[in-house]
Amino acid sequence: MIIILLGPPGAGKGTQAQRLEREHGLKQLSTGDMLRAAAKSGTDVGLRAKEVMDRGELVSDDIVVQIIAEALTREECVNGYILDGFPRTVAQAGALDAMLEQRGVKLDAVVEIVVPEDVLVERISGRFACAKCGATYHDTFHRPKTDGVCDVCGAHEFVRRDDDRPDAVRQRLKVYKAQTEPLLPYYRERGILIRIDGDRPMDAVAAEIDRALGIENLEPPECDGDDGTGTAG
Ligand code: AP5
Repeated sequence: MIIILLGPPGAGKGTQAQRLEREHGLKQLSTGDMLRAAAKSGTDVGLRAKEVMDRGELVSDDIVVQIIAEALTREECVNGYILDGFPRTVAQAGALDAMLEQRGVKLDAVVEIVVPEDVLVERISGRFACAKCGATYHDTFHRPKTDGVCDVCGAHEFVRRDDDRPDAVRQRLKVYKAQTEPLLPYYRERGILIRIDGDRPMDAVAAEIDRALGIENLEPPECDGDDGTGTAG
């Protein structure tokens, strides 16, 4: 299954993509995470991308298309994937269509997560993530079960993003409206756009996404130590 998660900054794309990977074995492909990793590793492209990201602007189409083209060749994508933060412009959507056609696969659904702007700002201002595995938390809405310890990997270090400053957030919201919202009619016309009310508790959003995708009864993927009795959703 190939899914796009669309929505403004703070809508919950990363949160739901991480969960879909954990519960359903669909690989999360987050262009934001990949660009932050490139910046951290200090590559030329990464450092230039970081400057753009910190201002709340979009990195060039060429760079992100190349990043995704490389990611789609990975073995871990064979069971399907979730595109989180890509495409973000009409040009990127065209490039994705061409890549999928070349690989002989098709897009199953585009999930738009809808959240009012005041809620987005509140979510972004309280967000932090595990420095080791990237699992996302919130000061109020989603704290780790044990304070200071990541639920997923047990690490003790957390980070906040440089582009979560109020001025960069305002710019990211503007850019979303101007450059990414035009993708909604693009996918609506193809009959694959699903609208989800994201202004509800995470579990309720998760359940609606799974129902809309028809995967609410799908078993989680097998992994080491799993006795196979777990349930999804
Ligand atoms: P990216 O990393 O993709 O950021 P974004 O789209 O701005 O989205 P966010 O990560 O801020 O929000 P999210 O929707 O994932 O929300 P989350 O789940 O974290 O991109 C960053 C930058 O990289 C871009 O600005 C651009 O410069 C560049 N870039 C990336 N892709 C690009 C592309 N394709 N082209 C060009 N440039 C690109 O949730 C937010 C918070 O809310 C968390 O704390 C979470 O715990 C909490 N939360 C989530 N759901 C709920 C809920 N239901 N109730 C309460 N709290 C919730």
